[in-house]
Amino acid sequence: MSDDTRIPLAGVIGSPIAHSKSPRLHGYWLERYGLSGFYIPMDIAQSDLEDAIRAMPKLGFVGINVTVPHKESVLNLADLVTDRAALIGAANTLIFRKDGKIHADNTDGYGFIENLRQTASAWQPKSGPAAVIGAGGAARAVIASLLETGVPELRISNRTRTRAEALRSEFGAKVVVYDWVQAGNMLEDAVTVVNTTSLGMVGKPNLRVPLDGLSPKAVVSDLVYTPLQTSFLQRAAEFGCTTVDGLGMLLHQAAPAFERWFGIRPEVDDGLRQVMLA
Ligand code: ATR
Repeated sequence: MSDDTRIPLAGVIGSPIAHSKSPRLHGYWLERYGLSGFYIPMDIAQSDLEDAIRAMPKLGFVGINVTVPHKESVLNLADLVTDRAALIGAANTLIFRKDGKIHADNTDGYGFIENLRQTASAWQPKSGPAAVIGAGGAARAVIASLLETGVPELRISNRTRTRAEALRSEFGAKVVVYDWVQAGNMLEDAVTVVNTTSLGMVGKPNLRVPLDGLSPKAVVSDLVYTPLQTSFLQRAAEFGCTTVDGLGMLLHQAAPAFERWFGIRPEVDDGLRQVMLA
């Protein structure tokens, strides 16, 4: 069958995958722009990863999103890896090109920055330090994108200090590590503050970092989006800070992938947010 007559398929692979909100997100855009195409969740075991990915272009897939636990391993299967995916050490998007090559990208950092820019229009990341709480996979994308945006100093605090130190070795001299018990100290003068840990998520304890040092001028963001308004964001709002919830990052990271697969740059608007929250 020729490419032109095929209905384009996309989807998200992970394990587990039932919780993923991406099918709803891409499904909304496909319908809104009247495109023929499908986006489906696929639970794929690590041992089947390569076989599954190699088969997808033959089945009509134009690309896929990748989530836990495959984000790192897919880099080894790609023919081309973008600089940002290589820097982060993980991909969230694969594009199956017409020439048969697999292109791996990571749009998480882009989604994070775009969400802040759109929600906090006065945000000036270059005007002062950024403080990142956590040093896991999500933190890597946030750190890479903040450094690319030109933050003068990037502070990290993580319960397991060695993980934060590993990020300093990798991301260089602008990174300063703070001890977990002193995480509150790194908020002083920070213009950007981000929680990248899972603390505050439904079913997890709240993030209890003291906010006394926080400036009301800081833009405070949380990657957690269930609930949308975490206790961390609530406390920051009480300090007078502009707060940015985590749902927008999910929406914005998806836009460049959708464009690459389906040919239209989709809009992230309030209608989409409402659908995602329903
Ligand atoms: P992700 O890819 O979502 O970032 P991850 O790599 O497992 O997932 O990282 C989770 C982050 O949340 C880490 O920074 C983790 O701290 P550790 O490196 O010390 O594990 C942090 N985290 C999770 N539960 C935590 C808790 N109860 N207290 C403090 N930090 C926690």
